[in-house]
This record gives sequence, C-alpha cells and structure tokens, in this order.
Amino acid sequence: MTSYKELGLVNTREMFKKAVAGGYAIPAFNFNTMEQMQAIVQAAVETKSPVIMQVSKGARNYANGTILRYMAQGAVEYAKELGCPNPQIVLHLDHGDSFELCKECIDNGFSSVMFDGSALPYEENIRITKQVVEYAHAHDVTVEAELGVLAGVEDEVASEVSHYTKPEEVIDFSTRSGCDSLAISIGTSHGAYKFKPEQCTRDPKTGRLVPPPLAFDILHQIEKKLPGFPIVLHGSSSVPQDEVDTINAYGGKLPDAVGIPEEQLREASKSAVCKINIDSDSRLAMTAAIRKYLAEHPDHFDPRQYLKPARENMKKMYIHKIVDVLGSNDKL
Ligand code: G3H
Ligand code: 13P
Ligand code: ZN
Repeated sequence: MTSYKELGLVNTREMFKKAVAGGYAIPAFNFNTMEQMQAIVQAAVETKSPVIMQVSKGARNYANGTILRYMAQGAVEYAKELGCPNPQIVLHLDHGDSFELCKECIDNGFSSVMFDGSALPYEENIRITKQVVEYAHAHDVTVEAELGVLAGVEDEVASEVSHYTKPEEVIDFSTRSGCDSLAISIGTSHGAYKFKPEQCTRDPKTGRLVPPPLAFDILHQIEKKLPGFPIVLHGSSSVPQDEVDTINAYGGKLPDAVGIPEEQLREASKSAVCKINIDSDSRLAMTAAIRKYLAEHPDHFDPRQYLKPARENMKKMYIHKIVDVLGSNDKL
C-alpha cells in the first residue's frame, strides 16, 4: 500500500472548493508519455496552476500503471526542481470501470479516482460508486462519478448518442453515492470528431463546421439543485483548427474534425464546473509537430529531434488552456 501523500500528491477536495468559489476550472490533462508529463508540469509551474494528471485504462495498457505512478511521483519532484516549492498535483484515474480497478489505483498512490458507471442502470451506478467512495474516503482519496452518457468512446464504454444528465436525479445520486464531484453530460463528447457534420452548421466564410452549443440550461439547473457542488466536464478538447490544418498539410487525414469552442469552455469554467478534461488536443498538438518536423527534416531519425518540438507544442497548448480558457493560473 502506497499513500499518495508519501508521493507529494494531493486529492481534489480543497482544489475544487477554491475553484468553485473563485470561478475557474482545474485542468485535467491525460498523459501516456514522458513528454506529455514534462510538458504538463512545465506549463503548470510556469503559470502557477494546480493540475490534475489523469491516467485512463488505455494509458495503463500502453505505458504500464506502475510506470505512470512513478512518473506522477517524478512530476512532483520535477515541479520542485523547476522552482515550485508546493506543487498541487493530483494523480487521477480516468474512467475507472470497476471497484477493483479503483481500489488497485488507490492502493498504488492515486489521490483521486473516477468510477464511471454512466452506462449502468441508475441503481447499479449508485451502488458501485458508493462502494468506491467508502474505500476511497477511508484513504482520504476523492471520487468522481458520472451521471448521463456522453456520445463517443469512453474507454470500453461506447455510445452512439448522448443522454444528457437529468437534473432531477443529481441530488439523489450525489447524496446516496457520496461522490465528491460529478461528471455530467451537456453535449460534450470524447475524441477529435465530437459532432457529425449534419449536427453542425458551416461558417460561410471559412467553410468550417460550427458545432451546436452546449446545453447550458441543463448545467444551470444542476447548479441550482447542488449549489457549490463540483461539476466535471469530460470531452472538452477544442480540436484547434490550426493543428488539424498542420496535420492535414503534412500527410494526415482528419477531415471535419471538430471540438468544443473555447468561449463555451471559458463560460463553463466560471460556473460550478471545476474540472475540465482535455486529452485529444494534446494528441493533436503532438502529432502536428511531429508530422511537420519529419516532413521538413527527412534525414533525421533521432526521436529526441522530433519529440522536442512535439513537447514544446503541447506545452504551448497547455499554457493556453490554463491562462486563456480555464483561468487556473496564479492560484498556487
Ligand atoms: O476518455 C477518454 C480519454 O481521452 C482517454 O482515452 O482511453 O484512448 O486513453 P484512451
Ligand atoms: P477529449 O477527447 O475531448 O480530449 O476528452 C478527454 C476526456 O474526457 C478524458 O476523460
Ligand atoms: Zn472522459
């Protein structure tokens, strides 16, 4: 058993309380590689932002859960080395799909876990979330639950359509499950193709897809039911069109990739939404930089040569999200 406290990590409790009161959101960045970890830490330190580093089941399969845990421990030490004496870093399990997986992560140094029972029947979702909460709270670990289904892929959970969270269920769900934060469905979805072209309109000037707005009315109803309760948005990448253009210009093929407009995420950050999940934008920033570098330097083959600009491009993106979208800078 390794407590996250020994690793210098923190849970989300104080962080979320301050974020809700202060009208900003904490960035939750997924990581799978050392370069992503370095870029996240550099960005958080330079902007004096708390940060959630999250690990999906896919990341554990790719990189190995133990390695990722040591990387998170390394992230704390790296932040100190970069001049941040008290970094606020959470190691979070993203989309945990069983009590056993959540327990394993808690036992191995995670400071926060998500149990995603959004695809389960309502009572089953409450039952397992509660089981996770009881174990987690005994170890001072915080728990995110999910109510409502996002369209797209959530690890093994895939849904063709989204089912918005029902505001009339949130009080009962959060009270009976005991969760510390709640991920809701208001129109975001995972990946780089958040909306089908037929769900969008087209900007006549640029020809680009304009997605339908998020269901802010549902968010506001939920906020009224649960005043001050921490709300989480998954699937919140913006799919920056300059990165998509770079990928397409250098041999990629991502037609009609579209994300959540940043002004909507800016608005959400000022509400009870206090955690915003971003993964796809990091993938796009990394891939765009690598494609461009390799096309321009066909004779290079040392991975450090192309991973360096990839890391720099991700860092630029993380800083932009923190400062210009979520507003979590200067909070340490
Ligand atoms: O929720 C989805 C995250 O982007 C993680 O994706 O399961 O491919 O690692 P992944
Ligand atoms: P994106 O695919 O929009 O980056 O969402 C990531 C996410 O929700 C991770 O849980
Ligand atoms: Zn997610």
